[in-house]
Amino acid sequence: MAPKTLNDLKRKDLFQTKGYIDGEWVDAVSGKTFDVHDPATLDKIATLPEMGAADTDKAVDAAQAAFKTFKKTTARQRARWLRKWSDLMLENQADLALILCLENGKTLVEANGEVAYAASFLEWFAGEAERTHGEVVPPANLNQRILTFKQPIGVAACLAPWNFPAAMITRKVGAALAAGCTTVWKPAGETPLSCLALAVLGREAGLPKGSFNVITTLNLVSEVGEALCKNKLVRKLSFTGSTRVGKILAKQCSDSLKKLSLELGGNSPFIVFDDAKIDTAVEACILAKFRNSGQTCVTANRIFVQKGIYDKFAEALTAKIKTLKVGPGTEEGVFVGPLTHERAVEKAMNHINDAKKHGGQVVLGGAPMDGLKGYFLQPTVIKHMNREMITTREETFAPVVGLYEFGSEEEVLDMANDCDVGLGSFIITENMARAFRVTEALEVGMVGVNLGMLSACESPFGGVKESGYGREGGRQGIEEYLSVKSMLINVAN
Ligand code: SIN
Repeated sequence: MAPKTLNDLKRKDLFQTKGYIDGEWVDAVSGKTFDVHDPATLDKIATLPEMGAADTDKAVDAAQAAFKTFKKTTARQRARWLRKWSDLMLENQADLALILCLENGKTLVEANGEVAYAASFLEWFAGEAERTHGEVVPPANLNQRILTFKQPIGVAACLAPWNFPAAMITRKVGAALAAGCTTVWKPAGETPLSCLALAVLGREAGLPKGSFNVITTLNLVSEVGEALCKNKLVRKLSFTGSTRVGKILAKQCSDSLKKLSLELGGNSPFIVFDDAKIDTAVEACILAKFRNSGQTCVTANRIFVQKGIYDKFAEALTAKIKTLKVGPGTEEGVFVGPLTHERAVEKAMNHINDAKKHGGQVVLGGAPMDGLKGYFLQPTVIKHMNREMITTREETFAPVVGLYEFGSEEEVLDMANDCDVGLGSFIITENMARAFRVTEALEVGMVGVNLGMLSACESPFGGVKESGYGREGGRQGIEEYLSVKSMLINVAN
């Protein structure tokens, strides 16, 4: 079958090439534009408005105006909008997946998975909308009664990354709208088209004008970020992306003391103990490393394997990786797509060469893919990794597997925690006592045991240390968009 193209979209109107402010599709005030490319072919697929501070202020004003009425809608009404929106996403899953695949590069199979995952956040927060409420607090003073209310915090800015262009929007926006906040979305400049398609469906679901607004930008991203951080009408900012940018945003938000959620970089340890089942370990590692071509914030970056199983695991994993087909995500049977960003292959090659310099042995791959036009890297396996290498400290964000050897549980915990960030982690073991011990000792926000993916709308997602703060998804996700007000009543005669 020929690879799919934009001509295969059943609903052409899902492919939008303008920003969205106050219920209207709009150009940038400046008239400037930027191009979006398919990372598998480097072909231009769209030209979009390059919006800046002036457009951002307009979007915030629209969201603020809408907040006046949106905050008074019932939780049930908001739940209905969100549920309808989720249903529409699933009805249009194939089209949304195709748009996502073309702008991000992930395979169509993965893109379909992401659309379902993205829709699940809307359904989840539809449920949470009505289940989230204040409480009656037992008073210490019997002449008083104490109640708390949970109220939407105000306009929320939702800044999403390019690695999950649909799910990172709904994970934030679903929670915000469920709470009664209105929103301004800023998708990544590399991948804004999924977000715009979601806007089409959000409008169709009945969400009121101004309750969501989309700013598109590539080259003016710092100007837009700063405008959102400095605007006093924005009361909440949620960002997923690098630790470097997260720190800048946190500083810029400090003047107006905005509530912040930061889901930042990780450096996930993936720990295989001697007692692990090899098949489970290989399957989990393939998922944790090759999902989205190694470009997830929780991708397995440091793979620690206990001495007794090291060679056996390395051999089984390498054999499996050799069978993975690399190519454009639109092609049937492809498992590893291109990297999304133009500088990604160069960065990965830098990590590979550095590992070689410090004694690493490349047993598979180790170079860009020949014969493909886009940003493709050969799936790579490196043995004998050590603490000297850049990869130990920094995420490679590419399909590069680096295998470290360890002796004891104590030693691997020391290596795993010797890190400035702490987002995801994985443990492969048949010993449940060990799974609990290691889970408690790891300095991270999430631990996967005998599996390779941490994504579930009902499970809180977020990190510790320089991976940021706040949680998305789960029961906790909606709380990030609410403030608690207490009421104390004198009931004395
Ligand atoms: C991320 O990479 O930040 C998101 C991954 C996920 O939700 O599974």
